[in-house]
Amino acid sequence: MRKKIVAGNWKMNHDLAETETFFNELKKQMFPEDVEVMIAPAFTNLNHAFTSTREHPIEIVAQNMHQSDKGAFTGEISAAMLKSVGVKTVILGHSERRAEFGETDDLLSEKVNTAIENEMTIIFCVGESLEERKAGTHEQVVSKQLEEGLFHLSDVGFKNIVVAYEPVWAIGTGETASPEQAQEMHASIRSSIAKHYSDGIAKETAILYGGSVKPDNAAEIFGQEDVDGGLIGGASLKVDSFMKIVNAFQK
Ligand code: 13P
Repeated sequence: MRKKIVAGNWKMNHDLAETETFFNELKKQMFPEDVEVMIAPAFTNLNHAFTSTREHPIEIVAQNMHQSDKGAFTGEISAAMLKSVGVKTVILGHSERRAEFGETDDLLSEKVNTAIENEMTIIFCVGESLEERKAGTHEQVVSKQLEEGLFHLSDVGFKNIVVAYEPVWAIGTGETASPEQAQEMHASIRSSIAKHYSDGIAKETAILYGGSVKPDNAAEIFGQEDVDGGLIGGASLKVDSFMKIVNAFQK
């Protein structure tokens, strides 16, 4: 059985005091046993988040990472630094990193290699723009992102991958992909994985949907056959809305 995951990506939100308040509240919650709960706070709050949730089934995740081990890279964070504060999972290839910080497929494949060498799990984001969706090239775009960023990995390496499909036009816009659009793309991603690796690996790979997931639409999206959970932005900033999404899987 592949994993069900709900991961909160806080982006550049929540300072230390807000992070403390959130985790104090989140720790009091009961989580469904079959759902992995993850939160990606700002780098500055990773240490606090990890320490305060040590006894709880909450995984603390980084939002990004540099591809080099160390060196003269002002403002950057290495895999070793993340591991030293207990972080074992990193989000790579978020569309905001691709669009605002010029992260290319080539750079991402280097980051992927560094994360794998450091035995980290990767939540690898893919997704098309509105223009690409309108032009009908969305499946090709996502397929290229997978091929260039991930598919050089060995079977063993690929087992550390969680894919997150986040259509750029649905991020922070309030416009969600319809459950059918999400299912169609998730099935296409799973079939690419099967083609490059094997049916077995494709079946075991968790594929998350991200883009305006809210308490009132999560159940329908998570109910799709190939959707294994969500990568949640805005609705992960408050415990109440985040928990409603964590509890949105139908039994
Ligand atoms: P929103 O849920 O705010 O649309 O953000 C989605 C996202 O980008 C998560 O990584």
